[in-house]
This record gives sequence, C-alpha cells and structure tokens, in this order.
Amino acid sequence: MNFELTEEQESVKKLVRRFVDNEIMPNIQEWDRKQHFEPHILKRLSELELMGVCIPEQYGGAGMDYNTLAIVCEELERGDTAYRTAVSVHTGLNSMTLLQWGTEEQKQKYLVPQAKGIKIGAFGLTEPNAGSDVAAMNSTAKKDGDYYILNGSKTWISLCDVADHFLVFAKTDHDAAHKGITAFIVERTFAGVETKAIKGKLGIRAGNTGEVFLSDVKVPVANRLGEEGEGFKIAMSALDNGRFTVAAGAVGLIAASLEASVKYCHERKTFGKEIGKHQLVQQMIAKMTANLEISRLLVFKAGSLKNAGKRNTKETSLAKWIACDAAFEAANDAVQVHGAYGYSDEYPVERYLRNSKAPVIYEGTREIHTVMQGEYALGYRE
Ligand code: CAA
Repeated sequence: MNFELTEEQESVKKLVRRFVDNEIMPNIQEWDRKQHFEPHILKRLSELELMGVCIPEQYGGAGMDYNTLAIVCEELERGDTAYRTAVSVHTGLNSMTLLQWGTEEQKQKYLVPQAKGIKIGAFGLTEPNAGSDVAAMNSTAKKDGDYYILNGSKTWISLCDVADHFLVFAKTDHDAAHKGITAFIVERTFAGVETKAIKGKLGIRAGNTGEVFLSDVKVPVANRLGEEGEGFKIAMSALDNGRFTVAAGAVGLIAASLEASVKYCHERKTFGKEIGKHQLVQQMIAKMTANLEISRLLVFKAGSLKNAGKRNTKETSLAKWIACDAAFEAANDAVQVHGAYGYSDEYPVERYLRNSKAPVIYEGTREIHTVMQGEYALGYRE
C-alpha cells in the first residue's frame, strides 16, 4: 500500500490545476449564468491529452492508470462539474467501454479518434421511463439484413449536442428483460438521429445535456458492440468506470468547498473574531476535511482494484455513493459558512451546491447504491 502520488501523477495534477485556474475559473460564472457549454474546453483537454487518460497508447490514449484518471477528474471538478462530466461520459462511459468490448475494427474506427479527442463520445442508456430500472427501456433494434433499425428516445444525455458517436442501448428481444438489451455505436450523422438540449437545470448549467431521438436509424451490424443480449452487462461495466470518475469528481467538489470555506473563514469576522474561530464553523470545516479524506481513499481503493484488473463494482459503488453524498453535504455547509453571501453567485459555493445534486442522482442514485451495498453485505449480491 502506498498513499503517495507518483511523480507522474503529481505533474498531471499540477497540469490540470493550472489549466482549470487559467482557462475555466475566469469564465465559469458567466458560462453557468448563460447555460453555455464551451466546446473549446474539450479541444484544449484533447491537446493536453486528457480525453483518453487511461486508454492505452496503442489506441491513441495517454496510457496512464485509473488513479491518474481520478486525479484528473478531481481537479477538473474544481473548475466545474460540467467538464468533469464531459470526461466521465466521453472517457469513462464510452471510450473505456469500447476498449473492453469493441472488436479491433471498432477500436480503430471509433476508439482511436475518441482517445485522441478528435471525436467525442456520449452514452445513451437512460430513457424517459427507464433510469434506475434499465431493463424497462423501450428503445428497439430490429435486425434487417446487414443492419439493425433503431427506434426510441434517450434522455439526460450529457454531450448530446457535441458528440460524434453515441453508445446506444436498445431492446433486440422485448420479452427477455435485461438479457434482451443490445449495445450499438451510433454515429450522429446516421439518418434519423436528432438531439435537443435540456435547459433550465438546477445545476451543471454550464454542461450540455439533452435528449437523443432515434427514428428508423439504420445501424450496420458491424456497429453492434458485443453480442445480442449482452447490452445490460456492457452498460453495467461502463457504469463501473463512469461511477468511478463521478466519485473522483465529487472528491474535487469537497476539496473546492473546503478551500472556499477556509478562505472565507479567515476573511469574515463576527463577534470580534474570524468566523473560523467559532467551534460550530470549525465543525463544518472538520466534517469536510474528514469526508475529503474518506472519499479520496475510497476512490483510490477502487482505482487500485481497476489497475489490478479485478472486479470492483462493489467498491466503485461505495465510493460513488459516499463521495457524492459527502460532496452534497460539503457544498451545503460551504454555503452555510458563507452565510448570506453564499446564497449569491458572488461566491462560487452556491454553484457548488447546485452542481452537487446531479451526481447524487446520475449513474446510480443514492438509493440504488445504498441497496447495492446492503445486498453485498447480506450476501444477496456477489
Ligand atoms: N459488469 C459486468 N456484468 C455485470 C455487472 C458489471 N458491473 N453488473 C451486473 N452484471 C451482470 C450480472 O452478472 C448478471 O449477469 P447474468 O444475468 O448472466 O447473471 C446481470 O448483469 C444482471 O445483474 P444484476 O442481477 O446485478 O442486475 P440487477 O437487475 O439486480 O441490477 C441494479 C440492479 C444494480 C439496480 C442495476 O439495474 C443498476 O445499477 N441500476 C442503475 C442504473 C444506472 O446507474 N442508471 C444511470 C444511467 S447512466 C447515467 O446516469 C448518465 C446520464 O447522464 C443519465
């Protein structure tokens, strides 16, 4: 066991921090207010080789380990949840799934440009009537010669307006519940694909989220990922990676909440002393400190299992649950520490609080992860 970052991890951390400080921080308040997603940031992330952090170099990635990906996500989330979410979806949910399940031809055609950040990947699992209950999806894929014909709609799809490729899940056998789901790589340019942004979100307002509509989309059989009926497993394995990056981002949000709160504690005085000298304020700071440490350790534990190629669904789910709940609490307390100022966008903490809510819902709600942990502990789940 080694709790030190490697030299390479330290330098990646510094690189992302500098990028966030120089290119995201100065603009994020305006982008958040205008609900503007800035695609140039994705271009810059590609130039910095941050769009394929743990994709092997032979497939165009940076060939680094999972905990380096966690560090990237932690630091990016300090800037804003929107850009960490972009990496979670593009790399965690899409590219890493292509790496695990794709044929060599699919990897060359889709993974390589994605890992280099030349093309952007998104993930189409959730539907208006199927979120936690994946097997309840209604999208269909019917085989027709060398093609499948896809119909349906997906919602809450991050990067929907900027993605070149969507990893889409649809039912090839309606009666077979989760064993009837199949995964497909769908290009935006395929006829019948349309997207529409969702505006008016509580948080991650600087992110691009929306709906994807599929009407009679002809998808070549060569674009089926895995076998027919393997889609549920593929989606779950994708979520093992996506949830890891979400948890790592939550660590960054706790760190940002703590950093802002400590700074404010030294600036603001009440009753003749810095507010940090009041014990009830110290209690909130202490809780953030403890949760930062706990959450980061859980993330690195899951990352170490991934590095060793071991199954990590349980550990990743635990990290995602605990870190996201802790980030929500930390952001809420950061607003409390800032008092009325925390309630205005003069300070970043109100954005942290709004941004911290979605990760408690997406990629497995708090309730899904709580139930999973209960089932693991009771021996109902292996
Ligand atoms: N890797 C590989 N295979 C896996 C797996 C994994 N991580 N997890 C499960 N499987 C396999 C199991 O081995 C099992 O295989 P067999 O059928 O061969 O036995 C099969 O998949 C079914 O597994 P379970 O019995 O565990 O399935 P379940 O029905 O009990 O799962 C659940 C229940 C855990 C609640 C699961 O449905 C779940 O995680 N739901 C939440 C889904 C979710 O996170 N949705 C969010 C969507 S994406 C998103 O949020 C992004 C966005 O922007 C909207």
